[in-house]
Amino acid sequence: MKKIFVNGYGSIGSRITSFLKDDPEITVIGVGKYSPDDRVELANSRGLNVYVPEKKLNDFADYKIAGSVESALDDCDLVIDAAPEGYGYKNKKNLYESKNIQAIYQGGESTKGPEAVSDLLFNSRVNYDLVLGKRHVMQGSCNVTGMGRILEPLRNKFGDRLIRFDVTLIRRWADIEQTDKKLSDTIEMTEKPHHGDDVKMYFGKDAPLFVRAIKVPTRQMHLHIMDIRFKDVAPKSSEIHEIFTNESGVATLWTAKGTKDVRDYAKNMGFNFTDTNMVHIHANMTTSIGDTVQMMYSDDQTGIVIPENHMLMQAMLFEKPYEKAVKHTESIFHMNEKKQKLQEYFAKQD
Ligand SMILES: NC(=O)c1ccc[n+]([C@@H]2O[C@H](COP(=O)([O-])OP(=O)(O)OC[C@H]3O[C@@H](n4cnc5c(N)ncnc54)[C@H](OP(=O)(O)O)[C@@H]3O)[C@@H](O)[C@H]2O)c1
Repeated sequence: MKKIFVNGYGSIGSRITSFLKDDPEITVIGVGKYSPDDRVELANSRGLNVYVPEKKLNDFADYKIAGSVESALDDCDLVIDAAPEGYGYKNKKNLYESKNIQAIYQGGESTKGPEAVSDLLFNSRVNYDLVLGKRHVMQGSCNVTGMGRILEPLRNKFGDRLIRFDVTLIRRWADIEQTDKKLSDTIEMTEKPHHGDDVKMYFGKDAPLFVRAIKVPTRQMHLHIMDIRFKDVAPKSSEIHEIFTNESGVATLWTAKGTKDVRDYAKNMGFNFTDTNMVHIHANMTTSIGDTVQMMYSDDQTGIVIPENHMLMQAMLFEKPYEKAVKHTESIFHMNEKKQKLQEYFAKQD
């Protein structure tokens, strides 16, 4: 049985671990913690072994610890790095490379420049086969993953009729569980957002995609406003929605007034971590005017990348064919069931 270590137990690491525990094909050795706080006990209470950096062992004297991160890595086949932005690169250089371990990095890292963790940015809908058996790969961030789920089906359907995509990302300020992070009463403008360049890593460097981003004081998901320009007359809104009927990880909703409605529904339905793990097209906002389709979709910031990490792990570790990996991920995340429930609840009213 292959062994996985999850290095970091924050918003992303705790979610990934929770789902991996349900996967009978792998064993989770444990998680890496770097601060001696309540989350050590939380991880222990969830049946996880907690490992800490060798040089910090003394700081954790009052906690139940299974050993050092370094020793856990000696016993593992693949590490899922879930460290704060930039630390994934340091871990690669200081730990993973010297121990010759396969590693998945999260979207806060980089695929360009001196601190690139990989030259591969994963999006299961677009480039699954490219990462089969690879040793170091970065999972796209939540916004980058969400854009792939919308753009790739459009590209498959309309090909060279598409001449330009303009996207405005309205990004959430903080995650729901980051209660120590205060929301600032401002709309913050993001200079040179990385998201467009990241999408081009899998969509092609010459893709006619133009992205700008702002950050707003909410914890309730991201919202993408996308204008899709066609060479000729744009398709009707209904034709756009139809493309996503059988797309896993894309729900089409008609009556959500805002992103919180979607999150609240996920919470009421008992979805794990109140995540939907997908993007939600707000179909009532789609318009077709002349050569342009305007659409909006919300993106579950914390949840969307978790099944993607699971897909990526299967490609790197087991070199599983795409269809088999999708099936296995579905058996753990039940995305299609969640999609159906969301679509029924937010269905079009006559
Ligand atoms: N949050 C999101 O919505 C989201 C979505 C997509 C992608 N991402 C990306 O996922 C990554 C993790 O984000 P996050 O939101 O989960 O951050 P987070 O909630 O701040 O958690 C980071 C975790 O990493 C641990 N850590 C600290 N130093 C570390 C090191 N040197 N090596 C490994 N782990 C270390 C922290 O441990 P202690 O708490 O013990 O110090 C903490 O458990 C980032 O690249 C981020 O951009 C985040």
